[in-house]
Amino acid sequence: MIPTPHIESKNKDEIAKTVIMPGDPLRAKFIVDTFLADVKQFNKVRNVFGYTGTYRGRRISVMASGMGMPSIGIYSYELYKFYDVENIVRIGSCGGYTPEVKLYDVILAKDAWSESSYAKVQSGYEGDIIEGTPELNRSLINYANELGIPIHIERIHTSDVFYRENFDEYKEIYEKYGCVAVEMEAFALFHNAKVLGRNASCLLTVSDNLATKEITTSEERQNAFTNMMKIALEMAE
Ligand code: ADE
Repeated sequence: MIPTPHIESKNKDEIAKTVIMPGDPLRAKFIVDTFLADVKQFNKVRNVFGYTGTYRGRRISVMASGMGMPSIGIYSYELYKFYDVENIVRIGSCGGYTPEVKLYDVILAKDAWSESSYAKVQSGYEGDIIEGTPELNRSLINYANELGIPIHIERIHTSDVFYRENFDEYKEIYEKYGCVAVEMEAFALFHNAKVLGRNASCLLTVSDNLATKEITTSEERQNAFTNMMKIALEMAE
């Protein structure tokens, strides 16, 4: 069933087996402009840009996910199910829940805890923790080591809500579930990969910290986020 309601490419071969997924379409464009050659754009529906190109001669795609589980839920499902994508590596920002994760640190999500109904509604799955794909995580850990980029390998919180009335709720989520940081997409991505028999990982860079109240500016983020991009780009085939 291609094209899909949200991806206009009429040819599966336009999309590589591995897709890197930042949330922001302009970050997808930044990755492509900075790192890729031989680039062809395969999607611009809703300005959710998708591109395929080569990284050091190896093929890879980059496509935005938008913000939140409903959005990444749609794009990752269509890529896996209708475009035969095998691996999706989300790269995003997160808010630290503990001073141990510092601004600009990179976190690989071992698994994601969420209070969201996404997995239950999507397939009836009742659990509240979903793993990233261990083999894909192992590859990313190896690439990070080869590049000399330190990473934390931890549980994260995937939240449906950015602005909570009870700001201090994060303390309980950290203590009870061991989540070191919060973002808004990984749980849905990991779920879709699981139900469709595909692979998903999530690399995050700490953009703010709820415990220390530190925050980065959007200009700082553009450059500092290149470490996690370089790790993910090593997945190119
Ligand atoms: N992504 C980056 N910072 C975040 C935060 N504080 N909450 C949710 N998602 C985020």
